[in-house]
Amino acid sequence: MDSYETFEYDVLVIGAGGAGLRAVIAAREAGCSVGVVCKSLLGKAHTVMAEGGVAAALGNMKSPDGMNEPDSWKVHLTDTFKGGAFLNNPRTVEIFAKEAPERVLELEQYGAVFDRTPEGLIAERPFGGHKYRRLNHVGDRTGLELIRTVQDKAVGVGMSVHMEITLTRLLKDGDRVVGAFGYRRDTGKFVVFRAKSIVLATGGWGRMYQFTSNSWEGTGDGLQMAYEAGAELLDMEMIQFHPTGMAWPPGMRGILVTEGVRGEGGILKNNKGERFMFNPDYTPPLYKGQFAETAEEGERWLEDKKNNRRPPELLPRDVVARAIYKEVEAGRGTEHKAVYLDVTHRGAEYIKRKLPSMYEQFHALGAVDITKEAMEVYPTVHYTMGGVWAEPEGCATSVPGLFAAGEVAAGLHGANRLGGNSLSDILVFGKRAGEGAAEFARTAKLGAIDPAQIQAEISVLMHPLELQEGESPYKIHQELQENMQRDCMIARNEQGLNSVLAKILELQTRAAKIKVNGDTAFNPGWHAARDVRFMLRTSEIIVRCALERKESRGAQWRLDYPALDPVWGKKNLIATQDGDKVKITERPLPDMPAELKAIVEEYK
Ligand code: FUM
Repeated sequence: MDSYETFEYDVLVIGAGGAGLRAVIAAREAGCSVGVVCKSLLGKAHTVMAEGGVAAALGNMKSPDGMNEPDSWKVHLTDTFKGGAFLNNPRTVEIFAKEAPERVLELEQYGAVFDRTPEGLIAERPFGGHKYRRLNHVGDRTGLELIRTVQDKAVGVGMSVHMEITLTRLLKDGDRVVGAFGYRRDTGKFVVFRAKSIVLATGGWGRMYQFTSNSWEGTGDGLQMAYEAGAELLDMEMIQFHPTGMAWPPGMRGILVTEGVRGEGGILKNNKGERFMFNPDYTPPLYKGQFAETAEEGERWLEDKKNNRRPPELLPRDVVARAIYKEVEAGRGTEHKAVYLDVTHRGAEYIKRKLPSMYEQFHALGAVDITKEAMEVYPTVHYTMGGVWAEPEGCATSVPGLFAAGEVAAGLHGANRLGGNSLSDILVFGKRAGEGAAEFARTAKLGAIDPAQIQAEISVLMHPLELQEGESPYKIHQELQENMQRDCMIARNEQGLNSVLAKILELQTRAAKIKVNGDTAFNPGWHAARDVRFMLRTSEIIVRCALERKESRGAQWRLDYPALDPVWGKKNLIATQDGDKVKITERPLPDMPAELKAIVEEYK
C-alpha cells in the first residue's frame, strides 16, 4: 500500500471559487470544522471571469425622470426563465431570484467596494436578457472583487486551506461519500481527506474546447468524481458560448471580452459596417417587440434606459452568439473569422473608468486601443449550464453526503444562463450548500475509508508512469479540442455529433495507453494524463446528450432540428454511470407552480 497523508474535517469543500468559499463561511458559521481544497492557489478561480457584474434586483437605478426602474425578484425570475428557455428548475429559480439581493448586500457588508450611483447606492448596469439594470458591478472586475471579499471573510471565520492539490476520486462507505483522494501537484504525494460531508464547488469544464475563457483548471475533475460516485448529471449538452471572446491575435483567441462592453453601449458590426443585430431574423419570437429596432432608438436608450427599448446587442447570450456565428459563416466576418465590437463612441474617459480591464487587455495582448478602434470578437466557450443535479433547498446531490453548488451544479440556468446570474448563483447556493452540508455533518459520523478504493485510484494514476511506451496526453487533448470545437460547437447536427463521438471513443482507447516520462514530482505531463481522461468522459456525455435532445433550445442549436419542441421543453436529460457505459434517461421537468406561472405571465 502506498503512503498518504490524511486530514479530517466535519465538512470538506472542494474548490475555492466563490461558491466554495461562500459554502465555507456558511459551514463555519454553523459550527463545523472546514477544510477547503483547491487545485490552484487560493483566490485564483474562474469566478474572476464573470467580469461585468453580479445580477440581483436591487432596483437602484434612476432614469432622467427621477423614477427608479421598477425591478423586483419577480422580473428577475421571469428573465431567468426566458433566458434559460424554460428548462430551468422552477424552485431553484424562485429561491435564486428572491435571495440574490440579500446575498449582494451581505457581500457589501463583508467589504466589497461596488461602483456607486450618484445617490451612493450600488451601481447596476444593463446586461443581456435582463429587462432592467441589475448587474451590480465593480468596473469590469466584479468577479475579482467578489472572490477577494469572500476570501477575506472565509479567512476571518477560519478554515484550513489546502492549495495546489488535485483530487481525483471520492471515497465511499456504502452509498455515502466519506472522503476524497488525490495528490499534491508539486511533490506528487498522495493525500486523503475524510469528512462527514462534502461540498463540490469545482466549477466548469471548458478545456475540452480549443477556444475558451476557462483557465487550465477547467477540466471537470469535480464533475467526473461525482459521476463516478454515482451522482446524476443534468442536461450536459448545455454549454454556453459567450458571444464575445477575443478573436485576435491567435494565442489570445477565446479570452473573455466582458458583456459589460455591450452593457455600456458597445455595438456589434459585420465587415460591411452593418449593425447586424437589427436583422429581425435574429430576434426570437419570445423577445419580439422588446428591443430597439433602429440605431437612433438604441442611442436614445443610452441617455434614458427606462423609457426606451434596449439595443438588440443585449439579447441573451445564446441569441447573440448564434447571430455572430451566422454572420461569419455568411462571409460577413473580419479577416480573422470574427465581428467587430465597437464602444469608441462612449469616449476614452468613460471607457477607461467603466471598462479598465478591457482597455488594458486589448492594449497589452492585442495592441488595440479600444477607445479608438473596434475590437474583433467571436464566441468562446465560457460556462456549463449542465452539471451535477443538486436539489434547490440544501444543494444535496443524489449521493448521500455530497452537496454541489456553483457552475458544477445544475438546475438553475436551464438551456442558457443570463450574464451575471453566475455570481449571484454562487452566493445564493454556495451558502445553501454550506448549510446543507453542515446540517448533514451534525448527525453523521466520519465514515470508514476503504483502502481498496485508494489503491485502485493509485493504480490508475501510476499507470502512465509504468508503461515503456505509449500515447502523449497532450496530443490526445489537442485532438479532442479540435474535434469538439468543430463538431460540438454552437451549431450542431447528427452527422457532426456522430463523428466527434466516434473520435472520442477512439481517443478513450488510446488514452488507456497514455505514457508519461519521469515520476510524480513536478510533472505536468502526469497531471495531464488524468485530466485528459476526465475530459474525454465529460465530452462523451456532452455529445451523447446533444445527440439525444432532438430540438433547438438555448445553447443547444441543432441544424437538423431547428425548432423549439414543446415536448422536449418538458424534459431534462439525466446521465449516470452504468458500468463502463454512460446511461442517458429522460426525466420530466417539475411543473412550474401556479403562482410562478402567474408571475411569468405578468412580466414576460
Ligand atoms: O461577460 C461577463 O462579464 C461575464 C459574466 C458572466 O459570465 O456572468
